[in-house]
This record gives sequence, structure tokens and C-alpha cells, in this order.
Amino acid sequence: MKIQVPATSANLGPGFDSCGIALAKYLVIEVIKPQDKWEIVHHLGPEIPSDESNLLIQTALSIAPYLVPHKLKMISDIPLTRGLGSSSSVIIAGIELANRLANLNLSEEEKLNIATKIEGHPDNVAPAIYGDFVVACYDEQKEQVLSVKHYFPECDIIAYIPESELATKQSRSVLPETFSFKNAVKASAISNVMIGAIINGNLDLAGELMGRDLFHEHYREKLVPHLSTIRQICLEENAYGCFLSGAGPTVLVLTPQENSSRIMTHLQSMDTNAQVELLSIDREGVQVY
Ligand code: HSE
Repeated sequence: MKIQVPATSANLGPGFDSCGIALAKYLVIEVIKPQDKWEIVHHLGPEIPSDESNLLIQTALSIAPYLVPHKLKMISDIPLTRGLGSSSSVIIAGIELANRLANLNLSEEEKLNIATKIEGHPDNVAPAIYGDFVVACYDEQKEQVLSVKHYFPECDIIAYIPESELATKQSRSVLPETFSFKNAVKASAISNVMIGAIINGNLDLAGELMGRDLFHEHYREKLVPHLSTIRQICLEENAYGCFLSGAGPTVLVLTPQENSSRIMTHLQSMDTNAQVELLSIDREGVQVY
């Protein structure tokens, strides 16, 4: 059995903690055989545990503590701590692992409720489960997620992935504790129109509103100085827009296809150590083969 989970990009600017898209970069878990102890074979570096303490197994055991240990293989092309949902992909794979090995028959809603409880917000885990574009909110009292999946319009998606990592905790630490009523109304109105524009297939308007976020990007700019340079490139090269991917430091640019190669050349010249990749939307979410 193989479990495949897509990378994700959360927020899309003003859709802070609630909007996300799934991207065609993947974590793949291969279940090899049952054995005495959990073992994960991977090439992701010494800081990623190969035993039961790995987030994958911890997630699976939190759902089905009686699971028989297995030897697993983990392959991922989702870069770690870059704002592309690598930890969410592991959580979703862990839920799916428990679901299959213990025959739990979990619905997508149940998987999303469990994943959001672990992750804290649904913006990465929801598109990792459903694929495409998902808007979601979490009711902490009912421990229930309400979500809507919709088709994200076709466009080129360019990821600027800096070499340096940025932990979500650090990136959230620069956000304000409180936000005035007036600003909250303004910020969510921008987000609402952006979502409407995506649903209408109007990427010109959606892209413009992605750049008008009031919830988080402004506060995070000091941690991601490349964001303002990329905004400028987007204006000059007629991209639809750009936004910080999740908590950063990756920035995603949305553009009509004909402008892609010029934008990629600009981005690559900003820092030759950064990865500049052309991505597409994953439409299906988690898959089991
Ligand atoms: N919405 C989250 C944030 C995504 O921006 O902090 C990262 O988990």
C-alpha cells in the first residue's frame, strides 16, 4: 500500500488560517511489512526520527493505539519548514495509515476534524485531504470543521523557496495579540471578495486582493524581506499576484502562463540558493494505492 499526500499552501494572503490550495508535490508513504517495531526508512536527514517518535506514527497511534508495528518507507519532495505544509502532509498520512491498517472507514470530514485538532487550524490539512482549493473554519467547542472545496482557476504557480527555514511558531510570534473591530471588518471583507473572485474564475481580481491582506503579511515582512521584492516583480511582469505561502518563507506567484518564464528568471536572479519551481494544483488530495 502507498499513501500519497500533496503539499499545500495556506492563507492565499487575506484568507488567514482558513484558505488553502493543494500543490502537486508529494509525500509518499509505502507500507512494506509488519514487524516487531515501527521503522521508517527515509533520506530526509538525521533530524527526522526513523522510529515510533516520528509524527507519522505518533499521529497513527493517537487514533489507533493498538496498531501492529510496520516497516515503512517515507519519500517526500515537500521541503521542510518552508510554508508548504510538510508537517500537515505527515499528519494526514498518519491518519490515513491508521484508517487503512485498522479498517476504521473514516469519512473525509472525520479525517479533517482529527487533523485540525492536531494541527490547530484547517488551512493546510483541508486541501491535503480534499485537494484543489478549500476554505474552512474550526469550531473549537464542537471540535468540528466546516469546509467548502472549489475548483481553483487554471494558472501558472511559481514557488520561490528560500534556502533558509522559518518555523511557524516564530512566524506567528510576530502577529498581534488583538486586532481592532474596524480592522477585522476591513480585513475579512478583503478576504471574502478574494474568495468570491476565485470562485468566479476572476484571477485578476483575486490576485489583486491577495496582495491586500491586512491580517498577517505586513507583520511578517521583517522575517521575509524577499516578499516586497517579489511583489514588485509581479507588478512589473503582470502576474495576477503573490502571497506568503502559509507562515513562509516560501512565496507563491500566480501568473498567466505567457509571463512565467520571465518571472522565473527574475526570481532566480534574486538569490541563486533559492529554489524557483513551476507548480500546479493537485485536484484530488490524499490518495491510497
Ligand atoms: N495559517 C498558518 C499561518 C499556516 O499562517 O501561520 C501555517 O501553519
